[in-house]
Amino acid sequence: MTQSGLRTQPGKPTGIIGRMFGYVMDIYNREDNYWTVSLLDIDETSKMLEIGFGTGLAIANAAKIATHGQIYGIDHSQTMLEAAQKRNRKAIESGRVILRLGNVMALPFEDNSFDIVYSINCIYFWEPPTQGLAHIYRVLKPEGTVAITARNKDDELYARWKPNIVRDLLQSSGFVNVRTLNGLNPKHPIYCAVGNKPMNSMN
Ligand SMILES: C[S@@+](CC[C@H](N)C(=O)[O-])C[C@H]1O[C@@H](n2cnc3c(N)ncnc32)[C@H](O)[C@@H]1O
Repeated sequence: MTQSGLRTQPGKPTGIIGRMFGYVMDIYNREDNYWTVSLLDIDETSKMLEIGFGTGLAIANAAKIATHGQIYGIDHSQTMLEAAQKRNRKAIESGRVILRLGNVMALPFEDNSFDIVYSINCIYFWEPPTQGLAHIYRVLKPEGTVAITARNKDDELYARWKPNIVRDLLQSSGFVNVRTLNGLNPKHPIYCAVGNKPMNSMN
């Protein structure tokens, strides 16, 4: 594995090394996944979509709440799709969880489909992020909620994704009531940018 191969793994975990990244993410991103799901106002019948589900930790957690709803997931990594399918096997068999290979840049869903669309540690890989956000806007129902969780760090890798920048991206993509919420653990700085599609949106 070359250095550049290692650098691309978080953005598209692949093969054996990708599976190992999955184990690391399960530990390192655990808090991010649980915290984000806790913010989402999921109810029993929510229909939602996760973008970049990785090993499917948040999907499994959300499925425990939306017991009569549906949770869709899109990830462009075959390795992560297989890991998340394994973790969510029972909910997939019952039809409550539907996982697909796909890209946020061209979401394969109808307009106005979801109550909630969320994404955790994934926006860093969207080039340009506005294209991914435009698709999220399109597939959300009017008044639906978008939630984007990311690391709140100052180093070079994350400087482009500070809370105010992602907040402005959501606003310029048409979302309203946009706010950012900070994670609770100062040793693991994360935030979630949340917004809504306007009630009278015509897409
Ligand atoms: C750093 S991992 C985070 C995984 C998980 N959300 C977490 O927080 O543990 C990023 C995930 O997003 C996926 N991903 C990156 N860019 C994507 C895109 N444009 N469309 C769909 N999935 C994408 C990757 O394959 C990977 O599974």
